Amino acid sequence: MCGIFAYINYLVPRDRKFILDCLIKGLQRLEYRGYDSAGIAFDGGNESPDVIKKPETKIVKKKGKVRALEEELRCEKDMKLDIEYDIHCGIAHTRWATHGAPCAINSHPQRSDVNNEFVVVHNGIVTNYRDIKKVLESKDYVFESETDTEVIAKLCKYVYDHRENEDMSFRELVEVVIAQLEGAFALCFKSIHYPSQCVGTRRGSPLLIGVKTKGNLSSNFVPILYRDNRGREFQDDVAYNREGTDSAFKRSFSTTDFEVSGDIKAAEYFFASDASAIIEHTNRVIYLEDDDVAAVMDGCLSIHRMKKEEGESMSREVQTLKMEIQQIMKGNYQYFMQKEIFEQPESVINTMRGRVNFKDKEVILGGLQDHLSEIHRCRRLLFIACGTSYHSAIATRQLLEELTELPVVVELASDFLDRRTPIFRDDICFFISQSGETADTLNALRYCKKRGALTVGITNTVGSSISRETTCGVHINAGPEIGVASTKAYTSQFISLVMFGLVMNQDRISTRSRRNEIIEALENLPNLIKEVLEMDEDIKKLAEELYEQKSILLMGRGFNYATCLEGALKIKELTYLHSEGILAGELKHGPLALVDKAMPVIMIIMKDSMYTKCQNALHEVTARGCAPILICQKGDKESQSKASRVIELPGTVDCLQGILCVIPLQLLAFHTAVLRGYDVDCPRNLAKSVTVE
Ligand code: AGP
Repeated sequence: MCGIFAYINYLVPRDRKFILDCLIKGLQRLEYRGYDSAGIAFDGGNESPDVIKKPETKIVKKKGKVRALEEELRCEKDMKLDIEYDIHCGIAHTRWATHGAPCAINSHPQRSDVNNEFVVVHNGIVTNYRDIKKVLESKDYVFESETDTEVIAKLCKYVYDHRENEDMSFRELVEVVIAQLEGAFALCFKSIHYPSQCVGTRRGSPLLIGVKTKGNLSSNFVPILYRDNRGREFQDDVAYNREGTDSAFKRSFSTTDFEVSGDIKAAEYFFASDASAIIEHTNRVIYLEDDDVAAVMDGCLSIHRMKKEEGESMSREVQTLKMEIQQIMKGNYQYFMQKEIFEQPESVINTMRGRVNFKDKEVILGGLQDHLSEIHRCRRLLFIACGTSYHSAIATRQLLEELTELPVVVELASDFLDRRTPIFRDDICFFISQSGETADTLNALRYCKKRGALTVGITNTVGSSISRETTCGVHINAGPEIGVASTKAYTSQFISLVMFGLVMNQDRISTRSRRNEIIEALENLPNLIKEVLEMDEDIKKLAEELYEQKSILLMGRGFNYATCLEGALKIKELTYLHSEGILAGELKHGPLALVDKAMPVIMIIMKDSMYTKCQNALHEVTARGCAPILICQKGDKESQSKASRVIELPGTVDCLQGILCVIPLQLLAFHTAVLRGYDVDCPRNLAKSVTVE
């Protein structure tokens, strides 16, 4: 998915080399989102900024990796790198093609004209771009790309050239432009008419701003000045010192404008699609809301609203991110995905930290506490998500039905929307999303909200759209997941949903022993995950046997049906092999026709209530000449006798076994992809955060 990064330095002298390196580094941090080309815009020319007569913007764009863009910059002739800027604005972008093929001309920044008067980077889709393009073409604007974004840059020039007020600010100009746009976007603008200024705005796509100030201030305390548009000023340092967003600092103003500035002169600002690009510069960030227009001018950041909704908060908290740069680096691993698989013993602990009291066998989810009675009174629970997040709901559905005794409906967000599914005011709708930005899930959330249902977010990304727009929720706290293939987020989503079931069941005496059994198993889970991870070498050997195959089938049922779906998704997305997760109970209704001696089959058979039925499926498969690879519990000799290869796992309580079973499949997909020579962290055609429908 596209990534935006912008860097503005104000009275912090930086040479061009520093600025370009900073922009490139910002893009590298966004690479994990998935992209096919990259570009940057910065102040051009080799004149000293003090004597500059005519500001110019230079754009460099390149198809392929950020590395290629960096190379292109290095090859730029006649570009002084030691030229120093006290004030400067640079914008950068990684593009994931939606309108027009991946190529330099379609990459961003897109420009208004050959003089680069206005340049823009965009994440999202402008749905009415054809209409705007037609109008602009009729006014002799010549388009050079196939993108929807180019209309935005050209519209800026049109508005500027036709402005009635000579003093129109950059922010005002952008507001006029985006008022014409339909669809979803996060945008950052730069212009030679507004040197060193930057304007950023969002509607539907994420954008945040990192703030780094200099001066005689301790690093953790920066007085912030809020000024409304009547000139009234408010000072509040509380926002800067707060941590996290679960209980966001709120302050209401009676006007539609407010301003965050400081009495500090020197400042640096970083606009980005997500925090991973900002965190190495500053941990103080502001998440923009839809329709916020943020402008940096003379070292001050002001945030304006185009319109004010009734009851809306008119403050933006400056949050302190707890994320560490090491958390988003690969550490000793070769790939992010590999690191994330091996982080699971810790990430599941982080998900449970402060929530599960193992001693007293109690579970508390602070984010849901105030809404529990309403949840208990509901007609049904709906879990809506895409991809892996959807699988986490399938994996826990049976347990949630058991613990809540409520009807549990699990929906793929896109299909849920396509069907315009009926929703009632007494439905409780959960939206599960690692990124918290998935367009289909977000749209489903808005759909349910409109119909009066209580909405609950299960996300990994604090400050994401889903975590902000839901009434309440649970942060899964798995830590940043960079690899496009979701691994540790799945196991943490799984545990979050199990914890929800336990919370709902807390007061029921009749099921106390079941609840205790699950809580004890949760406590021991990290150790068992470590045990499974120690089998990495064996799984690698299995990958060596399988990597040249064309197709792999995975079969299981009950608590492990979801494991099969998730395992098959991992294999597909990383290895590009055909893979299918099959409910073993469905075998005779079609899939059995695929089975023969040559077909690689992985069967999951655990010692739970499905054991006998899974044994039957095993017989059906072996009777067709197939000797499957078996994932089973340690010591299950009966099943093992019919298998070609065995992965023996430690046993845990039935409803958590899926967590242990999925890990060998994550490792198998990973090793197979490496053996096939594919980019494990960024599989072809896929993006980490799917912010388009
Ligand atoms: C998982 O490996 C996939 N990359 C994908 O299915 C993902 O889970 C899906 O796009 C949903 O993303 P989300 O959790 O960020 O909403």
